[in-house]
Amino acid sequence: MALYSEKVMDHFRNPRNVGVIENADGVGEVGNAKCGDIMKIYLKIEDDVIRDVKFETFGCGSAIASSSMATEMIKGKPVADAMQLTNKAVAEALDGLPAHKLHCSVLAEEAIKAALKDYYDRNGIAYDASQFPDCAHCDGCVCG
Ligand code: FES
Repeated sequence: MALYSEKVMDHFRNPRNVGVIENADGVGEVGNAKCGDIMKIYLKIEDDVIRDVKFETFGCGSAIASSSMATEMIKGKPVADAMQLTNKAVAEALDGLPAHKLHCSVLAEEAIKAALKDYYDRNGIAYDASQFPDCAHCDGCVCG
């Protein structure tokens, strides 16, 4: 079996939603200190629905594929649904990632959560801080 699925290769070669949103309603940037990769997510939110999402990822192919898939998965969805997105769901939607690349999908989940947190903060929306675990679950991350 090939190391990477067709879907990973497709999203790596033709990533969806690459770019920047000017005047975004939420911006999240996370990095993995070990590999040095950085992911930034921009959200445009209206009526609690994610109308648009863009990303910039400086990282490995799996991180690019994960960001692309993750943005597709939350586009057009209510904020509450986007909050439920897990790295596991992103990896599954990509038909799997090699075990040593799973942390790349964690970056996508964390970047989206960071952008949603920014949206909540900017708008004074109350949230349960425990929904934003600060990297404790990320084995690729050494920032904790
Ligand atoms: Fe750093 Fe993939 S190796 S995110």
